[in-house]
Amino acid sequence: MGPYILVIDQGTTTSRAIIFDADQTIVGMGRMDFTQHHPANGWVEHIPEEIWATCLWACKTALRKAGITAADLAAIGISNQRETTIVWDRQTGKAIYNAIVWQDRRTAATCAKLRAAGHERLVRKRSGLMLDSYFSATKVKWILDNVKGARKRAKRGELAFGTIDSFLIWRLTGGKVHATDASNASRTSLYNLKTGAWDPQLLALFEIPAAILPEVKDSADDYGTMDPAVLGAAVPIHGVVGDQQAALIGQACFTPGMVKSTYGTSCFALLNTGADLVHSRNHLLTTVAYRLDGKTTYALEGAIFMVGGALQWLRDDIGILDQWKEAETLANAADPDQPVYMVPAFLGLGAPWWDSDARGAIYGLTRSTRRPELVRAALEAVGYQSSDLVEAMRKDWRSAHDIVLRVDGGMVASSWTMQFLADILDCRVDCSRTEETTALGAAWLAGWKAGVWPDAAGFAARRHEEREFRPRMSAATRRSKLRGWHEAIRRTLSAKV
Ligand code: G3P
Repeated sequence: MGPYILVIDQGTTTSRAIIFDADQTIVGMGRMDFTQHHPANGWVEHIPEEIWATCLWACKTALRKAGITAADLAAIGISNQRETTIVWDRQTGKAIYNAIVWQDRRTAATCAKLRAAGHERLVRKRSGLMLDSYFSATKVKWILDNVKGARKRAKRGELAFGTIDSFLIWRLTGGKVHATDASNASRTSLYNLKTGAWDPQLLALFEIPAAILPEVKDSADDYGTMDPAVLGAAVPIHGVVGDQQAALIGQACFTPGMVKSTYGTSCFALLNTGADLVHSRNHLLTTVAYRLDGKTTYALEGAIFMVGGALQWLRDDIGILDQWKEAETLANAADPDQPVYMVPAFLGLGAPWWDSDARGAIYGLTRSTRRPELVRAALEAVGYQSSDLVEAMRKDWRSAHDIVLRVDGGMVASSWTMQFLADILDCRVDCSRTEETTALGAAWLAGWKAGVWPDAAGFAARRHEEREFRPRMSAATRRSKLRGWHEAIRRTLSAKV
């Protein structure tokens, strides 16, 4: 039953649309993958028109499956892959270059130069981020420097920059609204976490003209109305948020000290630090979790580059695993007296080690090592890496001792891994009933702003655990296992410590 909320969840590989009814139940869904372009080594691009077309297709499919029309929608929410950068022509709405994706490393040398010139301190202090090609600033600069005439046109105010949310808002409103929310703005390296506004010094450092920037709004706000030409009805856009922050909201992690962790190919973990703007000393990022009624809630964020990816590798490239489900059986059959450690640093190591030159390694192999021990090592690496992240959070923010971890993503299906996670982190791990926590987070923002969903407390009260894991491992075993892991890390780091 209505009123319905439509969420566009625009991710790195897939555009999805999800419709929720008044009970927060999913009643329709559409999804379509799009092309990943790799024009050069380390470059990753998406075609903006394909992003738009796949989003539209997903929305139409979701409406059809729900058996409703756009006129039945109370509001629209958007959650999106973050940092990915588009610059478009305000007149035509067409992008002047492909979207440069967050994974794209083409500006690594620019970042290295800025670091060498001593600018990292300022960037970290103001934006909470590392000086890295991951974030939007140097991607915008690259487009302005490399597309003929772009810089001049940007200064004249003819061009617009936006992360994917801004681009979708622009298209949905027929070019009437150029805006983003504070969580997405906080991933650009141009946004000042303290003042809650674009930072003039950072704009000067990255050579970004202010005329190109979107207006920064609350995550639940008035983002204009969808042009009826798009889906057949005028519907307000009321929720906008980066996808990892959306999952934090979808998991109802509204209380400081709560952590959400999403386990897919890679893993993003966010710790809600409330009104505390915590500067990390352990390679975590400081970011906006969400901004509601003008009040910013901050988070500490850490990424693990490889979690499910290591299992994929064992299955698709090494061929010692037939299917996911087999991993649990094998892990259970592994010999407890054989400590085998896998450090899946295929893409380097994320927080708190932050070593892009490290490469994967397996330790402790003997003549008796078989498939089960290798598969168990890959699953255990999920727990060990999470433990390093959470330890970094605990060190950075003293209030983070009693954490509760709420998990989502494909790997949550593995009870073995979730139990190990609870054991090694020595904390409760909650798996929510809904798999769609990201979309749910954006839906809550839109539904709450539209006045058809409950407030944060009411929303949190409706959340139900599907499974809960509590620590069962003895402190001595935990200590000894972590000692082994840290020895493996020490041997893997590119600069030995
Ligand atoms: O920061 C990048 C992140 O937002 C990407 O998320 O789910 O599209 O891989 P996802």
